[in-house]
Amino acid sequence: MVKKNTCVFISGQGSNLKNLIMRSRDDSFPINIRLIISNNKKAYGINYAKKFKIPYIFIDTSYLNYENKVFLNLKKYKISFICLAGYMKIISSNLIRNFNKKIINVHPSLLPKFKGLNTFSRMLKNKEIKGGCTVHYVDEKLDSGRPIVQKSFFIKINDNKFDLKKKTQKLEYTAFPEAIIKIFRNY
Ligand code: GRF
Repeated sequence: MVKKNTCVFISGQGSNLKNLIMRSRDDSFPINIRLIISNNKKAYGINYAKKFKIPYIFIDTSYLNYENKVFLNLKKYKISFICLAGYMKIISSNLIRNFNKKIINVHPSLLPKFKGLNTFSRMLKNKEIKGGCTVHYVDEKLDSGRPIVQKSFFIKINDNKFDLKKKTQKLEYTAFPEAIIKIFRNY
């Protein structure tokens, strides 16, 4: 199997990145992580790039032309697939059009419920019965692309937002790889 050269975009902890790196070491997993892009110099996830010797770059999205650097590097590393793993910026329509159906994101709710930020506090306020995660294609509307995999859990009466985060992320670590396998199964 020819693995897809993949770039992972991060902004923070990078626990999904770490999980994808571990999974991609398996010969039968469809992607290889060739590049990591962070918009945050202090992102903890950068440590995984260093540890596993994966090239990484920082982008400063406040610069008008920051995307030139993105495109140059995606080309340099022959990237054909992009995973957004806790990337806290909106991806430009230019990038989305260039990577049509080749960008996926993991979101900590059962989309279409709770698009956007602060999902866990909004879920608690709304007295939701279920929480979960969604891995979906990225299109030009926020958290609105077609879902690929969703996983859910029942919220307990005493769960606070940290419990919800923990339970959600645990599901993300299986949902994200599962979505990637599903996408490339028929290639
Ligand atoms: C994940 O929970 C994901 O749902 C959200 O951001 C979080 C990133 O966590 N989009 P990490 O950086 O992968 O640890």
